[in-house]
Amino acid sequence: MLKIVTIIGARPQIIKAAALSRVIQKNYKNSIKEVIVHTGQHYDTKMSQVFIDELNIPAPNYNFGVGSSTHGAQTGKMIREIEEILFQEYPDYVIIYGDTNSTLAGAIAASKMNIPVVHIEAGLRSFNKSMPEEINRIMADHVSTILFTPTQTGLDNLVKEGFSATTSKPFTQDNPGLLHCGDVMYDNSLYFKKLAFEKSTVIKDYKLKNKEFILCTVHRDNNTDDTERLNSIFSTLNELSLENKVEIVMPLHPRTSRAIEESLDNKVDKAMNKNPLFKLLPPVSFLDMIMLESQCQIAITDSGGVQKEAFFFKKPSIILRSETEWKEIVDAGVGIVTDVKRDQILDAFAHFKLNASELEYPSIFGDGNAAGFICQTILNNK
Ligand code: UD1
Ligand code: UDP
Repeated sequence: MLKIVTIIGARPQIIKAAALSRVIQKNYKNSIKEVIVHTGQHYDTKMSQVFIDELNIPAPNYNFGVGSSTHGAQTGKMIREIEEILFQEYPDYVIIYGDTNSTLAGAIAASKMNIPVVHIEAGLRSFNKSMPEEINRIMADHVSTILFTPTQTGLDNLVKEGFSATTSKPFTQDNPGLLHCGDVMYDNSLYFKKLAFEKSTVIKDYKLKNKEFILCTVHRDNNTDDTERLNSIFSTLNELSLENKVEIVMPLHPRTSRAIEESLDNKVDKAMNKNPLFKLLPPVSFLDMIMLESQCQIAITDSGGVQKEAFFFKKPSIILRSETEWKEIVDAGVGIVTDVKRDQILDAFAHFKLNASELEYPSIFGDGNAAGFICQTILNNK
């Protein structure tokens, strides 16, 4: 029996981990034992437990409730705690997802104990080191033993950084393996779509009209913590909503709720509150989110996951950042990087409205079986 320790912590990781846990329970119960470690980076019920319950993820075996803090304090505490668990469990592999501080902590703790690290969603780059995630990804990739990339760009980025795409098994710390396997988030979107249509009541609850509203999310630290950018985002969204008479639905990350309360310009805040078409929601569950993504007209977001899921549901996205790791979405003409610039956001919206029927969504993110491929690869790494 192969033993893996899976590190989760932030919302998107919990969601991504569901894909692997589901395949292990279904097909690999007798060959893979999964131990789930939740760092507690995200802890509000709506940022964590709701996904464990809804996506049928086994209850974490450990949760050390690290909570919010500065990068160093948070990551340092995680490394210490993860190391202690790894001394107890001594798994064959440690699985890490994405690019959060929990990812980095798992990578450092495991690689220093010479436990092979499997990085899922490896190779993504924004080429912007002012993003904490860019640092986390680079460091995690370079100590990993098996690197699974969701896109061809991910694989190409790693090759440019000196990895070889042709190493042969067994993959080890000094002979890492690169594999382009598709995106576990695509597996999840396909799997949970039917359930979302059966169970979610979000469209009815907020009296939304299918295919008409805009779905919006904002949570990047450079957008929430920079008052000028925060004001530009909210004043532009409000203007867009009023001018086009279109509803904006925005489930708020707690970081963004706090920023609105503490830093949003009074005038912008008042105008937004007066606009009945601007709907701020608490963070929603994954099934509700899938429903919103599949029924919206367009997504406006700074989230990596939301850009991709909008694409899975054939919706264009306006990207509130100066670059994106998901280059293929932009190359396909269904994502536009606008940063937080008013004119660019309004132009991108007009462009997508005008060209809605011509947009195409090529197959970029695999076949929906990335998690199965990952399990089989790990088992065969001899
Ligand atoms: C983290 C990740 C980011 C990811 C995002 C997903 C890092 C460096 N960043 O950003 O890559 O896109 O998660 O959502 O790992 N908070 C709460 N309740 C919670 C969690 C957070 O109130 O359950 C608030 C706290 O005020 C906290 C702030 O949100 O200080 C930021 O949380 P943190 O986990 O540090 O970073 P995120 O912005 O969530
Ligand atoms: N998500 C959710 N509810 C929300 C907002 C996001 O379930 O209110 C899901 C979304 O569907 C996607 C993931 O969270 O699967 C994206 O996480 P987030 O935007 O927090 O982080 P990122 O992907 O940018 O790292």
